[in-house]
Amino acid sequence: MSILKKQKLYEDIYLLQIKAPEIAKKALPGHFVLLQMDENSPRIPIPIADADKTSITLIFKARGKTTEALTQCRKDQPCYVLLGPLGNPREIKEYGKVILVGEGPGIGQVYFYAKALKNAGNKIISLVGGIPKKQVFWSDRIEKVSDKYFIIDPQSDLPSPLAHAVEQILRKIKIDQVISFASPNLMRSLSQITKLRTKHYAYLTATMLDGIGMCGSCRVVCDNEHKLCCIDGPELDAHTIDWDAYLHRLAEYPS
Ligand code: FES
Repeated sequence: MSILKKQKLYEDIYLLQIKAPEIAKKALPGHFVLLQMDENSPRIPIPIADADKTSITLIFKARGKTTEALTQCRKDQPCYVLLGPLGNPREIKEYGKVILVGEGPGIGQVYFYAKALKNAGNKIISLVGGIPKKQVFWSDRIEKVSDKYFIIDPQSDLPSPLAHAVEQILRKIKIDQVISFASPNLMRSLSQITKLRTKHYAYLTATMLDGIGMCGSCRVVCDNEHKLCCIDGPELDAHTIDWDAYLHRLAEYPS
């Protein structure tokens, strides 16, 4: 298992393509991996944004010491540890009209989900944003697997342009579900907007240590019950999540 390609997609957003045939064979939308590049660094959970027969593609944001260290890896460098695929894959079936919301690194997952859900007969409305319009990556790919595709420019007078765009669509069209891959604040706003209108599933990128439900680091409260993102998620019903508790925990244990 080694790095085939590293690419800076935008400022602090990076793509890693990793040769990992055993993981690639099983990788589905929703899965993530735990990646550790050397003996002394921690394992970092990263969602899988695409896979072919022999490799997986990961897209991540360098937002702390550990993820910044990951940006220093080089082509052909072997992975010290690569565990996966972990987490529950999304059930791919016909739901109807589905909105996929991707912000920043989450844009990669919009592609992986749209490809599979479109194939299953869903109407896909993809909305991406969080980075300037001209620098959005994978637009051509996402457009091909979406019925409608919108890039929402973050430079706007609105406090949350992506949330506003979702709200506008929900006012006009009956949507069967929304799936979001975004910052916790945006997903929290989306859960308020969607609450009485449609289902909403949020893909949580919690702090994770073992990825298999043993350490408790990815705990989240849903309808007053504890759930573990790694084995119960990472996609969870956004309307049940205690967002304040989740945000508080992320601030305490940043990745
Ligand atoms: Fe340890 Fe989820 S990562 S319980």
